Amino acid sequence: MKNWSLQKKTLDNKNLLIQESLFALGNGYLGVRGNFEEGYPENMNSIKGTYINGYYDVVDISYAENAYGFPQKKDKLPNVIDSQGMKILLDGELVSLFNGHHHSYTREIFFDKGMLERKFIYMTTCGKEAEIIFQRLVSNIYKELFLNHLIIKYDGEIEVKSCLNGNVKNYSKENDPRVSQENEELLTIKEIHIDSLFMSVKIATKNTDVEMACSTSHKIIGGVYESTIHESFGKGITLIKGNKHLEVTKYSVYTDALRYSKPLEDGKSILKKIMAKSFEEHLQMQVDYLDRFWKHADIIINGSDKHQLALRFSLYQLMQSAGRDQLSNISAKGLTGEGYEGHYFWDTEIYVIPLLLINQVESAKKLLLNRYNMLDAAREEAYMLGHRKGVKFPWRTISGRECSGYFPAGTAQYHINGDVAYSFIQYFLMTGDEEFVFNYGMEVLLETARLWVEIGHYDNGVFKIDDVTGPDEYSAIVNNNYYTNAIAKYNLLWAVKIFKMMKEKAPEKLDKLKEKIHFNETEIEEMKNISEHIYLPYDSELGIDLQDDSFLNKKKWDFENTREDQYPLLLNFHPLTIYRHQVLKQADTVLAHFLLEDYTDLKTMLKSYEYYEPLTTHDSSLSHCIYGIMASKLDKFNKAYEFFDESSRLDLDNTHENTEDGLHMANLAGTAVSVIYGFAGLRIKEDAIHIEPWLPKEWSNYSFYLEYRGRNIHVEISDKIKVVLISGEPVNIVINQSIYYLQNVVEIENERRKYERD
Ligand code: BGC
Repeated sequence: MKNWSLQKKTLDNKNLLIQESLFALGNGYLGVRGNFEEGYPENMNSIKGTYINGYYDVVDISYAENAYGFPQKKDKLPNVIDSQGMKILLDGELVSLFNGHHHSYTREIFFDKGMLERKFIYMTTCGKEAEIIFQRLVSNIYKELFLNHLIIKYDGEIEVKSCLNGNVKNYSKENDPRVSQENEELLTIKEIHIDSLFMSVKIATKNTDVEMACSTSHKIIGGVYESTIHESFGKGITLIKGNKHLEVTKYSVYTDALRYSKPLEDGKSILKKIMAKSFEEHLQMQVDYLDRFWKHADIIINGSDKHQLALRFSLYQLMQSAGRDQLSNISAKGLTGEGYEGHYFWDTEIYVIPLLLINQVESAKKLLLNRYNMLDAAREEAYMLGHRKGVKFPWRTISGRECSGYFPAGTAQYHINGDVAYSFIQYFLMTGDEEFVFNYGMEVLLETARLWVEIGHYDNGVFKIDDVTGPDEYSAIVNNNYYTNAIAKYNLLWAVKIFKMMKEKAPEKLDKLKEKIHFNETEIEEMKNISEHIYLPYDSELGIDLQDDSFLNKKKWDFENTREDQYPLLLNFHPLTIYRHQVLKQADTVLAHFLLEDYTDLKTMLKSYEYYEPLTTHDSSLSHCIYGIMASKLDKFNKAYEFFDESSRLDLDNTHENTEDGLHMANLAGTAVSVIYGFAGLRIKEDAIHIEPWLPKEWSNYSFYLEYRGRNIHVEISDKIKVVLISGEPVNIVINQSIYYLQNVVEIENERRKYERD
């Protein structure tokens, strides 16, 4: 079906590395990169990877010059047991796409089936042809299951050597801070068992001794089981033979000690249960699951196939990588690669959760709960940083521990506290879920708010915050970062609001919480005061909100004399050189204008956008979508479309040249967010949801679903703006700043449709 799959026919090494990420499969728990089952020749690079969300080892951070309070250890996502291998021999000849001849090669990932397929016709040296099809899925029904299905048609002797390998390493790359540079070996092998068609390996993380296991077994049609051997310690191989037509289904079950008391034994019994079903039955369940997913999550575009495909790809890959239990989150690269060591960042709260809030609130809730579970670690970190109260969420982490080894662009990003608070508040505004906000949100809001009280100070009646780093990592340790102060204001304001609401509606629960976190009611008054007096820097000469106190004192970056190959700047200039200039890696003040538009006016937003945008390199993949959203807001329609287009291509065309390390999850979310918050202009506010849509002239329409406080709403933007209440009580909705009472349908002219692009 059109725009429901991504297909590739290229086979060169560079592209294959990228495709390993593009064709990754996952289910929020287990992720498998798209490597070739039959392997590659020695001289070819491949990053073979299998990952379990939330499963990590802890390694030392080494500093040349250590100092007080620096994190001494960090979490790291291990590459776990590999069950992808299935070598093929045809009349004794090893099949390899790179040595032998082949034709009709295609690889395709199906978003509606949740399956990856690769097929080709292989020609042996004697000129005989074989039809070979590999199919695989990572089940959305049984989270432990990775399923391979191999079909071979060949008029001759066929052998399949199916492998289970515990001897795996992590990937490392010198001189790139976005990929790990050390600690490749994170696992030790504990046990291996083989018994006819069955193999299992148990491993444990090297430093923390947390076990996990993988058990594999096979079903054969048209062939026979020959033998299973230990090829080396930790590696087993099952040999299967056939003739003419051989079909092998390989069931691999992954279990870890965080979720199972006995990973090996539990895995074996899950495997038994799962094997009662054929590949086709598992595939059908997968199709049904995806059918349910797309019914509410799809964003439909008419008029641009490439954008439709990019959007579905983004939504699909996010669904595959976002953690679905409280033990996991969504890392910067999801479950598709090892970039950023599998760490979770603010990417979750400011990019992924806004997307999930549109129509996947249950998934958003899981990620919020995972953050909630980090509170104790965040308390310790606050204490370590010298704060008497409150929490400091980690800049990057898996377990909750701060894992940043470079504090100016890591620990110093205190805005993470505000980002977490922001996402709890937005969840509340979108769902009205008081129970959740009283049970979890309140504690997060109070504890994060406390930290602003701790780190700021009054200066002539205004509250200021010194020495923090904002979202733009090309400025570090600055005073009064606009973004940080604005999000702190929102954080403080809502801590006070929810406190008052809870005092009225759930006083006993509130008392318990106060006792738990030793909260004194006088703190509420203090928070209220600060939220009213916090300093939001503004430059009256330029009429812009100021990124930070010193930003304008610096020299502007010399873009004219910066060569193309000197980007990203972070790989080519010392941080101090970058910090001394007016140059941005990513949206900062402009991001605050998107998230918190009521703290400024339209004119200031416009001038700020026009000031900062030319100074932004977009070296971070988190940048384009935000500028695009604000371009929509400011009627810069050409720009908005260009930024959206750029964001939609980022991984598909490898524009940042590091897709091989994994897909950029925040940008994938940003692509979808650019349509909903950008083109449709959605904002989730206290009074109602607001939209301010426009339609790119290349498209005839676009549409999506919103779940708003128990209602299902459909929004379609064409020459008209049509909002339909599909289920739930009537409600007010604000369209182009006017209130409409949505009872059944609201349909109005799309005024902004009439404007030509700039
Ligand atoms: C960005 C951060 C982001 C991180 C992980 C960095 O390049 O500057 O804002 O959180 O990547 O995606």
